[in-house]
Amino acid sequence: MVHRIAVIAGDGIGTEVMPEGIRALEAAAKRFNIDLALTTFEFGSCDYYLEHGKMLPDDWFDQLKSFDALFYGAVGWPDKVPDHISLWGSLLQFRRQFDQYINLRPCKLMPGIKSPLAGREPGDIDFYVVRENTEGEYSSVGGKMFEGTEREVVLQETVMSRIGVDRVLKYAFNLAQTRPRKKLTSATKSNGISITMPYWDERVAEMAKQYPDIAVDKFHIDILTANFVLHPDWFDVVVGSNLFGDILSDLGPACTGTIGIAPSANINPEGKFPSLFEPVHGSAPDIAGKGIANPIGQIWSGAMMLEHLGYQEAADTMVKAIEDVLSEGNNQVLTRDIGGQGNTLSLGQAIAERIGS
Ligand code: NAD
Ligand code: IPM
Ligand code: MN
Repeated sequence: MVHRIAVIAGDGIGTEVMPEGIRALEAAAKRFNIDLALTTFEFGSCDYYLEHGKMLPDDWFDQLKSFDALFYGAVGWPDKVPDHISLWGSLLQFRRQFDQYINLRPCKLMPGIKSPLAGREPGDIDFYVVRENTEGEYSSVGGKMFEGTEREVVLQETVMSRIGVDRVLKYAFNLAQTRPRKKLTSATKSNGISITMPYWDERVAEMAKQYPDIAVDKFHIDILTANFVLHPDWFDVVVGSNLFGDILSDLGPACTGTIGIAPSANINPEGKFPSLFEPVHGSAPDIAGKGIANPIGQIWSGAMMLEHLGYQEAADTMVKAIEDVLSEGNNQVLTRDIGGQGNTLSLGQAIAERIGS
């Protein structure tokens, strides 16, 4: 069976890590006899916007809806296009229109990588952030009043629907059931945000009744961020609203040494629409064009894509290849963010070779 994959590299280092993501995928496809048909699209980047005045063509939904998955790099180049325009015009549309309501983001301290947290070893940090991905604080409900005057007011509402909250909680509880520790932590802020967050807590408590085997705790987001740093070993599956999940899924990977390795899966679990796989990081304008970006976030996202398509062994082989190359610790191969002197190409090639062997 052929799997059709839409490839959108986007901006900045998205265009640099994508070839390494593809190299690794192709190595896995060859080894495990997986038939992947990749189609590259130029839209969804700021250069496309400068040419066409929009991030996506009007028929993007029809062009993409029948693909089996989307493989995405990173989008955003604030000097060319304001971020809220480029992101609301592309990535956030994919997530919402394709109802990718789960954003699954593993945080794992890999062998060979030094955590910035003293004394932490591989095994100490190994958890998932499950981020609500279609509503919450990322809402288009709001507006401006008295614009341009001293009485100017801007307003943006948080939206939580019962369906929206329950479905992400259910996914997170189900995930916790597959994990040895069977533990779920909820990110909240019900002490200060007095309507939506108590509602979130209520839905967590209600869902927990259906999962008596799962140990559930909750922390307000402020102390939760502190505990990510102080006690990362406490966490197993962490579920949060769209914004809280966003923040936690940069902080978690930072605790594992670099956000450059962190992958993510934007999933429509019902399979009604294609899911989207992309690194957690952005287009990194500060290092773009130098060829030094860490490609592991992109490659690991490719592994999550193969897992989603049903190729568990191929996915495991890709992650094992990443771990092996990191363990070897060859300075000439590793990128600078993890202490090496190599570049995107050297690390990407080493991982692809390992996948193929
Ligand atoms: P960023 O993730 O692009 O970069 C943050 C820092 O991490 C930078 O110092 C960067 O050099 C470093 N970094 C990121 N990825 C790396 C990698 N693979 N290897 C080594 N170092 C890496 O975040 P930002 O600076 O806040 O955002 C830059 C642009 O990217 C903005 O336009 C933003 O909106 C966009 N963005 C897009 C996505 C996405 O497409 N999913 C995610 C985050 C940010
Ligand atoms: C992410 C990014 C996006 C988000 C931005 C670029 C809109 O930070 O994927 O984590 O906030 O979801
Ligand atoms: Mn983010």
